[in-house]
Parts: sequence; C-alpha cells; structure tokens
Amino acid sequence: MVLMTAVTANSKAPTAVPVDLAAAIQDLKRKRNAVILAHYYQEPEIQDIADFIGDSLELSRKAAGTNADVIVFCGVHFMAETAKILSPQKTVLLPDLDAGCSLADDCPADAFADFRARHPDHIVVSYINCTAAVKAQSDLICTSSNAVDLVRQLPADRPILFAPDRNLGRWVQKQSGRELTLWPGRCIVHETFSEEAVLRLQIEHPAAEVIAHPECLEPLLDLADFIGSTSKLLHHAESSSAESFIVLTEPGILHQMQQRIPGKTFLAVPGLDGCSCNACPYMRLNTLEKLWRCLSVGAPEIEMDEDLRLRALQPIQRMLEMSL
Ligand code: 13P
Ligand code: SF4
Repeated sequence: MVLMTAVTANSKAPTAVPVDLAAAIQDLKRKRNAVILAHYYQEPEIQDIADFIGDSLELSRKAAGTNADVIVFCGVHFMAETAKILSPQKTVLLPDLDAGCSLADDCPADAFADFRARHPDHIVVSYINCTAAVKAQSDLICTSSNAVDLVRQLPADRPILFAPDRNLGRWVQKQSGRELTLWPGRCIVHETFSEEAVLRLQIEHPAAEVIAHPECLEPLLDLADFIGSTSKLLHHAESSSAESFIVLTEPGILHQMQQRIPGKTFLAVPGLDGCSCNACPYMRLNTLEKLWRCLSVGAPEIEMDEDLRLRALQPIQRMLEMSL
C-alpha cells in the first residue's frame, strides 16, 4: 500500500496516512472484524464507506444486533454511547471524541435530577439525544421516529416529562394529544433554519414538497408537508409522487437522497442570514482520516461505568420493546 508521511497529533497514532484511505479502512475493517455504522449527517465519503447508514433508532438496532467485535460509530457521542450500552462486550470507537450534541449539552444530569424531583409523579421520557447519565434517570427513551407512537402508548392518567428537545416535545404533544412538561433544550442546527428562506424556495419551486425534521422550530414545521426522522424523510421522498423537495434538516442527508433517488431534486435550506450553519458542527468533526486513524489504533474508545450502563440500558430496552 502507498503511504505518504504526515505529522500526527496523537502519540498512539500511526505516522503515515495512506493515499487510498478508503482501501486502508476496508483492510483494517476486515482485520479487526469491525462494522462501520454511520448517521446521515456524516460527510458523503464516510457514508460511502459505511456498512450501514441509518437514523438513531435503526443505528441502535444495528449496534444491538451486530456480530462484529468492533463498532466504529460515525455519528455523535450519545449515539456511540448508546451502542456501548447495548453491546458492552464490543469495542465501540468514535472517530472524534469531541463529536457531541447541543441537546445533550443542554441537559446536565444534576439539573435534570432536580427537574425530575420537582415532578415526582411524572413518567420521564427522554429523547435519545442525551447523555447516559440522563438516560439512567429516564423511564423511557425515544427517537424522532418513534416518539409519537411511544407517548401514545403511555397510561392516559399519568403526566409526562419530556426532555431534552423542546421542539420535538411540542410536536409530539400536538401529534399525540398528550400534555407534556418540556425541558428547554434545542438543536443549534435545526433552530437556524430561516422561514424566509423556505418561503423563497417555495416561490421558486412551487411544486416542491417541504419535508422537515421535528427538531425544527414550530413555524418551520407549520410549513412542512411531511415531518419525520431522517430515515422517514428519505423514505417519504422515495414514495412521494413529488419530483422536488425542500429539505429542512442537516444537508448531509442530501447525499443519500441524491444517490437513492437520482431522478428527483433536493433543495437544502440555508440558515438564518443565508449562513451555512445548517451543517452540524459536531457530526462534521468526524473525517475519513480520523475514521482510518481510530481503526488503526483502536481509539478513541467509548468506556462506561457498568452500574451507569445497566441503569441507562433499561429505558433503551423498553423503547426497543415498545417500538413497532
Ligand atoms: P434521527 O434519529 O432522525 O436520525 O435524528 C438524529 C439527530 O441528531 C437529528 O439531529
Ligand atoms: Fe445534535 Fe442537532 Fe447535531 Fe443532531 S444536528 S447531533 S441534534 S446538534
């Protein structure tokens, strides 16, 4: 294999970066019996090399069911952490350990414990975009693809706390008809979409459908023809008779949309003031080179205290059992 020299920041890291990173990754994957799981918001070159691409629920299921010894999670920290909770005997690697999530950051475990203590009779439903320490304090975990369905299944006489995404929570409330007490977290990416930009795109493309992730602000969701998780947006674009779509979510998903449905047109929506801040700064910390590096050196690895893991596992298992 051809190698080019490179200075490395990590002393554990190899000293040369292969010219053909994709081939080197495939090689290491076979040697280590590893599987690469990727979220739709990853760089296209990472999506192209992944064994499986999915939304949070699908990726959790894959992590729970894989026979591989190593899971390389190309996504953000809470996703890799969920994989570790479900598959403790496996090595779980995250190419960049700093790939976090504003929703998880918005909900510190100790403040969440106070919130729960103020609502002792409530069922606690937490969106999977939170830390293991918050999951461990929850009765049920949900993702954007099953939240409405799971909340509908909860006993009608019990009040519900919903954390950490206020926008998803508001949407679930509307869809399920259940009153939810919301934690005020938000996704810094989905809250940047501009209503004005959507209206402008609708004028330019009057036949286009607006499809949106439920983490968007309510006025944006009010403009949407279809709302769902990343996978649901992709499947809707496949099955809809519309030929073009205004896509209100992180633009990484456009790569899969264009690949799987080449005849249709997908339009990304700029952020406020036309900025390109609609790319998730956490997801985009992972690169092909970091993916190769983490497979080479077996780090950074997700590690977790066993007591915390067992407490966080229960509400995740409940979600998997209750999901259709
Ligand atoms: P999905 O579960 O819909 O893929 O969402 C994950 C996420 O982080 C959205 O911002
Ligand atoms: Fe978190 Fe938002 Fe990035 Fe998703 S897009 S990982 S919710 S910051």
